[in-house]
Amino acid sequence: MIGVFDSGVGGLTVIKEIFKELPGYQIIYFGDTARLPYGTKGADFVKKYSLKISQWLLQRGAKVIVIACHTSSAWASESLKKQFAGIPIFEMINPGVKEAVKITKNKKIGIIGTPGTIKSGAWEKKLLELEPNLKIYSKSCPLFVPLVEEGWINKEITREIIEEYLEEFKNRGVDTLVLACTHYPILEKIIKKEIGPKIKIVNPARSLVKELKLFLKNNPKIVSQVKKGRNHQFFFSDQPYNLEKISHFCLNKKIKPIIKDPF
Ligand code: DGL
Repeated sequence: MIGVFDSGVGGLTVIKEIFKELPGYQIIYFGDTARLPYGTKGADFVKKYSLKISQWLLQRGAKVIVIACHTSSAWASESLKKQFAGIPIFEMINPGVKEAVKITKNKKIGIIGTPGTIKSGAWEKKLLELEPNLKIYSKSCPLFVPLVEEGWINKEITREIIEEYLEEFKNRGVDTLVLACTHYPILEKIIKKEIGPKIKIVNPARSLVKELKLFLKNNPKIVSQVKKGRNHQFFFSDQPYNLEKISHFCLNKKIKPIIKDPF
């Protein structure tokens, strides 16, 4: 199985890309709805639970771990890779960084994410490691998550909030904007409309899944260990809010949640 985890329901935007590119692989998903949001928590908290969840997914038979949560990717991916050396672990930042550097022409990149992701500085660090001449502008957009969870996608107020947050990226002349949060791809269409056609959008979930696909192609031994089938399991540590709406946005179908808090 491919183990995917997030703080809650937002990771379904990553499942969407996995289903599109890697149909047939069985998924075990864990959304930590009992403890969300991660985006406003401290690094130690996010690290602690990311570690527990990864351990739990491995115990339940996951052979590959996908850190769908951007805040976990930012605070915890390095320690998870150390702790579980030898286990293939995919996180959002490295694939997104490569994509953004490939796309930008004027070397001005915008990053939007949760307060935790932005505070971590993880994107800046990795981007500058790959391309030291970049100008990077990052901004947290904490209202986007509740707007998406409320299902307020096509409302005028959502457009206004997006405009308010993203205006500065237009003024600064960035040509690439990274959606560094699970929920933001659900707003991609209106974000695109708001920032205009000159700014290209990077959805790291797509970049991650491309890398995962390539990895599986080159590692038949792992492929043989990852179970196939449609018997996906979606665990949540507490009742997920508006799951039906979010799974409809992402997967165009309902999913059956299994409520279980192993911690
Ligand atoms: N999943 C989180 C992320 O991608 C957003 C929601 C939260 O703050 O828990 O950073």
